[in-house]
Amino acid sequence: MNTSSPIPSASPSSDRVVELKRAAAEAAARRIQSGMVVGLGTGSTAIHAVALIGQLLRSGELRDIRGVPTSYQSTVLAREWRIPLVTLDEIERIDLAIDGADEVAPDLTLIKGGGAAQTREKIIAALADEFVVVVDESKLVDRLGARFPVPVEVLPFASATVARAIERLGGQPILRMGVRKAGPVVTDQGNLLLDVHFAAIPDPAGLERELKSIPGALENGIFVGLARRVFVAGAAQGVPAVREILPPEGAARR
Ligand code: 5RP
Repeated sequence: MNTSSPIPSASPSSDRVVELKRAAAEAAARRIQSGMVVGLGTGSTAIHAVALIGQLLRSGELRDIRGVPTSYQSTVLAREWRIPLVTLDEIERIDLAIDGADEVAPDLTLIKGGGAAQTREKIIAALADEFVVVVDESKLVDRLGARFPVPVEVLPFASATVARAIERLGGQPILRMGVRKAGPVVTDQGNLLLDVHFAAIPDPAGLERELKSIPGALENGIFVGLARRVFVAGAAQGVPAVREILPPEGAARR
């Protein structure tokens, strides 16, 4: 089955965004060295890094890479590029993980899960010696929750009780529905997803913990203290330019 990705684009403006995403992903992929175990992210930005790793393996510029995919999307793409894959049962640590994000705050806390993959993404980010985030500049926000809801993976059995508990925390949960698929989104683990809007998230670490403590709520899309660097692509006079953001001095680290 060929799902051949490298990413369709429909208009000049979407071409430009694709170019920015590719530039950010390539900057991160250039940090990979032969012999590394690499976390393969999910989404329209991270997949450019997966494709580049495949190309570098094919050209012989990289050797002996083992990938740990964060989703079916990255599994399928990695197989297309013949990137050797391993499971978490086969490794104890990951050298470098590269993934996208939906929001990036100045302290490098993140919201992730636009592709419903935040549960595996967080496990892999937490195992990585270096977790590198790749975004175009539209993802930078002054405070988390400004634009994007917080995705929360829930056991189908408990989705109604989890939704009520989230409302008691001040959130507005909405069951994520499929696109070109009738009914709700079912995650790679067979669960459902609530997208939760909060008026403000003054304490991301506290909210992450509170959401996780609800029985039946699995992982959520708030990432605190995980990102070690962010590659942000923007256009300077029409030409893609990538800059690097590091966590502020003294930022919490997991
Ligand atoms: C998937 C994610 C993605 O990395 C995030 O949604 C960003 O995606 P994109 O690069 O397509 O904007 O967290 O669960």
